Amino acid sequence: SQVQDMAKEKVQAAKNMAFAFDIDGVLAHGNHAIPEAREALKMLNGDNELGIKIPYILLTNGGGKPESERCEQLSQILESPISVDQFIQSHTPMQALAQYYDTVLVLGGEGVKCRGVAQSYGFKAVYTPKDVLAWNQEISPWRCFSEEDRAQSLPVDFSRVKFDAILVFADSRDYATDFQLIIDLLLSENGYLGTRSKNPGAGSIPCYFSQGDMVFPTAYKGPPRMTQGAFRISIEAMYKALTGVDLERVVYGKPELATYKYADEVLKSWMEEIHNENKIPQNVYMVGDNPASDIIGGNMYGWNTCLVRTGVFQGKEGENDPNSPANFGVFDHVLDAVKAAVRKEL
Ligand code: G3P
Ligand code: MG
Repeated sequence: SQVQDMAKEKVQAAKNMAFAFDIDGVLAHGNHAIPEAREALKMLNGDNELGIKIPYILLTNGGGKPESERCEQLSQILESPISVDQFIQSHTPMQALAQYYDTVLVLGGEGVKCRGVAQSYGFKAVYTPKDVLAWNQEISPWRCFSEEDRAQSLPVDFSRVKFDAILVFADSRDYATDFQLIIDLLLSENGYLGTRSKNPGAGSIPCYFSQGDMVFPTAYKGPPRMTQGAFRISIEAMYKALTGVDLERVVYGKPELATYKYADEVLKSWMEEIHNENKIPQNVYMVGDNPASDIIGGNMYGWNTCLVRTGVFQGKEGENDPNSPANFGVFDHVLDAVKAAVRKEL
């Protein structure tokens, strides 16, 4: 009958749309859910007129913890199960680098959590700044280093370690030490700490950053706080001043193309998992709060973009971002964005 045909069409449309959600400022603030996000996810998990699952992935510039640990936390606060198979942190695509580099300095995040992350990606010898401080505290005159830090660190003679690459996975908790160690390795002879290249600026060891956001929303009531992009441009400025040449480096995360390509692969395999169909949904909706990463990246990649007012973007009613306007619209919160997109597609 006609009614059945219409229902069939809607089911097809539901399988042909998908959401990519930013986390900070859209689904949560740190470890507190944004309440509307719970209802939005419930709707997509099948609590809708068709009783069908609408695929979604989480695409965050956050990081610093193993994917499994962050998914467990998010599942609890969002009251919906979040699988690692639908989850991309800033550093998740960096696992591909493990086939090129064995010995890496991994920076950022709480304690030495990022060691475990890098090991889970397959890097063979993973060291953190705390390991280096445990070896020689004098390397960083203004370090933060406690007995607790020492307990987390590995006893290593770094005069014998040749680093293959520098990987910044998350926000530095000790800018002074991390600046110093990154610059030391960039200016080193072949990746050995304590050495200086005869020709600094020519062919330094590769340096990767997991994302480029300048600021992010926090519990602070004032303007958004600085994050990894601000840390990176400081390194770039120091490197340029010390060597006279521009630092060659690679940045992952939104809005970099590599991250969106990776997201497509994740969407494809997630579709396979929930609908047993091996295809990327055509109508992807990115819901984000940061015009300079979520929205500009989504626009460039041909996704529909929804900007929400629960995070970095602070525009007034009726305003879009002047530099990177969301092409599907601006919404008070994620639930309004999801409802509007579902209304459009089904
Ligand atoms: O920029 C740091 C991070 O908190 C941003 O996360 O989820 O908004 O991409 P997200
Ligand atoms: Mg955000």
